[in-house]
This record gives sequence, structure tokens and C-alpha cells, in this order.
Amino acid sequence: MKHLLSLEALSATDLEAILSRVNGFKSNRYQHSRPLVGQTWGLIFSKSSTRTRVSFEVGLRELGADVIFLNANDIQLGRGEPIQDTARVLGRMLHGAVIRTFAQSDVEQFANFSGIPTINALTDEEHPCQILADMFTFEERRGESLRGKVVTYVGDAACNVPASWIFAAAKRGFELRLAAPKNYQPAEGLLRRAGGAPGPARPSAPADAAFWYFPSGTQISLTNDLNWAATGADLLYTDVWVSMGKEAESTQRIADLSGFQINEGLVRRARPNALVMHCLPAYRGKEIDAETLEKNADTIFAEAENRLHVQKAIVDWMVDGSQS
Ligand code: CP
Ligand code: NVA
Repeated sequence: MKHLLSLEALSATDLEAILSRVNGFKSNRYQHSRPLVGQTWGLIFSKSSTRTRVSFEVGLRELGADVIFLNANDIQLGRGEPIQDTARVLGRMLHGAVIRTFAQSDVEQFANFSGIPTINALTDEEHPCQILADMFTFEERRGESLRGKVVTYVGDAACNVPASWIFAAAKRGFELRLAAPKNYQPAEGLLRRAGGAPGPARPSAPADAAFWYFPSGTQISLTNDLNWAATGADLLYTDVWVSMGKEAESTQRIADLSGFQINEGLVRRARPNALVMHCLPAYRGKEIDAETLEKNADTIFAEAENRLHVQKAIVDWMVDGSQS
């Protein structure tokens, strides 16, 4: 049985197998096979969602399934029924599950106890569907592979989205620069889990920059110098400063992250053909300015649309019995 619980747990081969299916679904939206006919899939969400919810509901239906949306607060899970029990009940009724929640361990336990294909639709630790869609979008719009390119992430580099970028970079061999204040940089343990080891600084790097090296040839750097990080980048990427679940820290985060913004000044440092992407929702004037968001709206909303096509490819890969 295949799951998509994290990019950490997804092999490089499976990652490529998923991405290689996307064009088939995108170019042929209503004519492709419908492997889920007769099945019912459940979406179990403990956090808000626009893109993920709608793209999964629509995509699963286009693959032939019926879909049930369960707000975690409306089921007994929200009143404290253990995830293991919820999983054993739903696993006897549903054919697959898509879960958005806080703890990564809840998605993993659901997969273990339910016995049905399970997808991580965002946890505090990872957002694998988003980064698969982001990589597809970059390659679609640039017409070339991400391998060897430079991806610069600006903002809160310690949340779920950059964590998935770290595992993606380690598997696919592109350079990742994370520009964030020290307290918003990923933990060393995460970089080690991705297979990295600390190494020498590159010439002319900022004094605070830390460099990590990976067997795939990937380099990941951490710095608070966003101007250095953006220089020569192929992709500038950001996410919200206040992730879901962090609302109580909102004032502090906005103060700490002030300036870690993608704006026209930063874009000018990147390559002339660089893309600007945002997983959305966007907070104009915070992690991105309004002008830059609007100038790059074509890319950013194609990125959102691609969630649909990429997730159909994920589900198709999961239920395809012809591949291990
Ligand atoms: N990018 C993303 O996951 O959006 P939603 O929170 O709207 O699902
Ligand atoms: N880091 C953000 C992503 C939103 C799609 C959050 O977790 O809220």
C-alpha cells in the first residue's frame, strides 16, 4: 500500500514517478482513466483550507470517487477520540484519506491503523503536495528541469513548506537558499535527516551563512542576508509569516520577520528569467508586496491550479497496482 505522508519518506524514484504523470492529467483533464469509480474517499481537516480542500475534492471526483469532507471538529476526533480508533473505523468504510492536521504523527498513525491509502494535506512538519505542485510549475513554466537551479526561500524558513523544500532539494539536486532570521531557520536535525552534513562556507558568502552538503550534490545554505540569497536565483519563493497554529505569536513574528519580503528590489537581484512563487494565501505587505504578487499572478495562480493536476497524479500513483 502506498501513502504520501511526507517528502522525507518519498523515494527520489517515486517522486519522479508522480511528476511524470502530471502532464497526462493536465492536458487531458476530463478524458483520462477513472481508477476510483465505486470508491469513497474522506478529507479529514483540522485546519482551514481553500486550495487543498477544493483541489482534492474536485480531483478525486474527476478520478471517479465520491468524497466526504469531515471537519475534524464535527467528528468525535474533535472531542478527543484517539486517532487510532478514528482510523480503524474510517478504514473500514473509506477507500482513501486526505488529512490536514497539526501533528505529523497523527497522519502516520492514521495510515498505520486505517489500512487505506493516506495523503498528508499539510501538517506542522510538511506540505508535500504543495512542493510537488511547485516543482511541476517551475518546470512547466521554464521548460527545463530544476536540477542545478537555485531556489531561494524568503521568510519563515522553519515551517512546513520550507521543510518539504529541503527534502525535495536533497532528492532532486537543486540548490536551496533559505533566507530568514536565525530563530526562523530550520533545525540542524532536519538537515541531517535529509542526508546533509555541514561544510565549508562558499567564497564571498555572508559571515552568518551556514552551508550544508548532500550526497545528491545539493547545497543548502541558511542566512539572514536575503539580498545575497536572492542574487542569481532561478526561483524566489515565500510563504506566510504566521502559519496556522502560530496565531498567538503573530505580533512577535511580524516584528521578527519584517523585511524578509519578496519585492521588486529583491526580484532585480535574481536572474532575469527568475520565477516568483507563493503557495498562498498571500499577505500583501508582509512576505510579498502587492506589486510583485500582481506582476507574477500568472505563475502564482497557475501554481495554485497545478495542485489539482499534481494531486490527481499522486492519487493515481498511489492506487496504481502495476508499480510497487
Ligand atoms: N497552499 C495551500 O495549501 O492553500 P490552502 O491552505 O488554501 O489549502
Ligand atoms: N505554512 C503555512 C502554509 C499554508 C498553506 C501554514 O502552515 O499555515
